[in-house]
Amino acid sequence: MKTGKVDVLLGLQWGDEGKGKVVDVLTPAYDVIARFQGGPNAGHTLEFESQKYVLRSIPSGIFQGGRTNIIGNGVVLAPDLFMDEVLELQKSGHELENRLCISRKAHLIMPTHRLLDAAQEAAKGAKRVGTTGKGIGPAYTDKVSRNGLRVGDIDNDFSSKYEACKARHEKMLKALGYTDYNLEETERKWMQGIEYMRRFRFIDSEHEMNQLLRSGKSILCEGAQGTMLDVDFGSYPFVTSSNTVCAGACTGLGIAPNKIGNVYGIMKAYCTRVGAGPFPTELFDATGDALRNIGHEYGAVTGRERRCGWIDLVALRYAIMLNGVTQLIMMKSDVLDTFSVIKACVAYRYKGETIDHFPYNVERDIEPVYRELPGWQTDMTQITREEAFPKAFKDYVSFLEEQLETPIAIISVGPDRAQTIVRNSNNLVK
Ligand code: GDP
Ligand code: IMO
Ligand code: MG
Repeated sequence: MKTGKVDVLLGLQWGDEGKGKVVDVLTPAYDVIARFQGGPNAGHTLEFESQKYVLRSIPSGIFQGGRTNIIGNGVVLAPDLFMDEVLELQKSGHELENRLCISRKAHLIMPTHRLLDAAQEAAKGAKRVGTTGKGIGPAYTDKVSRNGLRVGDIDNDFSSKYEACKARHEKMLKALGYTDYNLEETERKWMQGIEYMRRFRFIDSEHEMNQLLRSGKSILCEGAQGTMLDVDFGSYPFVTSSNTVCAGACTGLGIAPNKIGNVYGIMKAYCTRVGAGPFPTELFDATGDALRNIGHEYGAVTGRERRCGWIDLVALRYAIMLNGVTQLIMMKSDVLDTFSVIKACVAYRYKGETIDHFPYNVERDIEPVYRELPGWQTDMTQITREEAFPKAFKDYVSFLEEQLETPIAIISVGPDRAQTIVRNSNNLVK
């Protein structure tokens, strides 16, 4: 019997590691690209041929023609935003109808989920998570509390299910004192989005995925957000509402754990975070500002400033462990090109002790312990072969591989598809 393979690609930090770019680069090696969790809270940026695209719910495999792209059951989908995203891509000449399928079991984000997101954040006051406001938490809450509305319901007594959910949400909004809204316009567009979705094939993604595997196809599962935003293992409660770790690919697509081959862990050469919550290596000084300016660290979805800091090897070791990462992919190496000194957090000082694991109460009294490395002070953006990397950068890469006990298989030196170096010495991307 022929069997295909499933690899997983996911973020190891607090999101925005550059997953979209790498999925696009790796797509030619796969038949199918499948998103397994998250929703329009994601903003995955791709650049090629002087064009820039930001994807939210659509998998990042859609630009490399002829591949099937699947939105899995673990995703939460907002029909209106999905329609906008598809129409925008159509404008730039990318037709998706025959190449994009949607799981019937994916849950729908309703307009009232977005209102609830806003109302719950307002109620939290200073303790708010700083969500993307896309209704992610409330939609996943409805899924887990067995109240959700799924894509498959569109053809199945839809209006009465929708009205029942809406009525329940409106009661909750009232209880939160959030009554100053007008749903009419958004609801009209949302319903248009529902109609629009019908032109795509609705599938039972678990059967489809396994059938594809049986017929020898190769599948790349694309994660959204990052491991430190995982609802179980991230910096709770400052997390998103889905499992962003590798196990999420199994539950979010219906593939068995023993089918998973390579796990590509994506990290930046430094670290960023959007929204509230602990970030041990965050910099509040000119170095942090420099990282933000050089790295253009502003949210792809909300435009918010991203918080910036040095790479955190404690958090990365934790993420590698949770995901079973087989290869690392390091992004935005070029952003460090001008720095004379690079720092890497190798441990934390916590309650008078030096620890090398991620503690339960990470928000309190954590002080990073840094190792300093010399910067390379060389423009790497035009480099195309790893042999051409400056020595100090090669040393940084070796240092990270040693600390993380995982090979770095791909290095990115700019946002464009072409600015990507697959390392020969680590010929691990099969
Ligand atoms: P994602 O959510 O993980 O897909 O990442 P985002 O798209 O939100 O953020 C990554 C940002 O970095 C995007 O603006 C990319 O165009 C950009 N980017 C990706 N790789 C590189 C790189 O190697 N160097 C630089 N300078 N920018 C990069
Ligand atoms: P990609 O896929 C960075 C953050 C939000 C907030 C928290 C919860 O582009 O890497 P949510 O709206 O999910 O309830 O917000 O998670 N967050 C992200 N941060 N990149 C993302 O996605 C994110 N998606 C959510 O800022 O702190
Ligand atoms: Mg992003």
